[in-house]
Amino acid sequence: MSSKLIAPSMLAADFGNLQRDTEMVNNSDADWFHIDVMDGHFVPNISYGMPVIAAIKKHATKPLDVHLMIEKPERYIEEFAKVGADIITVHYESTVHLHRTLRQIKDAGCKAGIVLNITTPLTVLQDILPECYMILLMSINPGFGGQKFEAITYKRIKNLRQMIDDQGLDTRIEVDGGVTDQNIQKLVEAGADTFVAGSHVFKSDAPIATIKTLKALANS
Ligand code: DX5
Ligand code: ZN
Repeated sequence: MSSKLIAPSMLAADFGNLQRDTEMVNNSDADWFHIDVMDGHFVPNISYGMPVIAAIKKHATKPLDVHLMIEKPERYIEEFAKVGADIITVHYESTVHLHRTLRQIKDAGCKAGIVLNITTPLTVLQDILPECYMILLMSINPGFGGQKFEAITYKRIKNLRQMIDDQGLDTRIEVDGGVTDQNIQKLVEAGADTFVAGSHVFKSDAPIATIKTLKALANS
C-alpha cells in the first residue's frame, strides 16, 4: 500500500497567526495542508474562502488538499485552483453532475477526489472510482472540528479498500474527523492511508511532536 500521509486541518489553526501555523506545518513531518471550505448551506458553518487560501499558499511548501463543503462546488473550481489548490475534493451529496465536476477539477490542473458523508452508501462510487485520485470518508458530520470519531468508519474503510482492490486501483483513502494517536493505527489496519487531523494537532502543546507521532504510528 502507498505511504501514509498526514494532513493537518488549518481549520484548527490560529487565524491571527496564520503564517506562523503554516510554517509550523512546513517544518513538521506533515505531508499536506488540509483546507476546509464551508458555505453555511451545505454545512451549518462558514469557514473561509479564496483570500485565506491564497494567504496560506503564499507560505506553504507542501500541497494544499482543499475539501469543499459547499453547494454546487462546480461554480468555484477554477478559482480554487487559481489560489493554489493542489487536490480538490467535492462531496457526492453537493453536486448533481459529479463526473463533470471531477473532469473540471482535473482540467484546472488539480488532483480530484470525492467525499462521502458518514452514511452515504459506498456503492455510489462503483462506476466513478477510476476517475478519482482519492476518496475522503467523513468520520464525523462535516461542519465543525473537535467532534468525536464515529466508529462506523472502520467498516466503511474496509469495504472501500476491497472495492478499490477489486478494480485493481490504488486510490487513496483519506479519513477526516476525530483522528488522534489513539485511532490512527486502527484506521491504517482498516485500509486508510491519508489522515486529516485538526484539533488533535493544533490544540496540543507541541504540534510538531504530535504530527511526528501521528506519522510514525501511521507508518509503523
Ligand atoms: C470538518 C472538517 C475537518 C475538521 C477536522 O467538517 O472537514 O477537516 O477540521 O477536525 P478534527 O480533526 O478536529 O476532527
Ligand atoms: Zn475536512
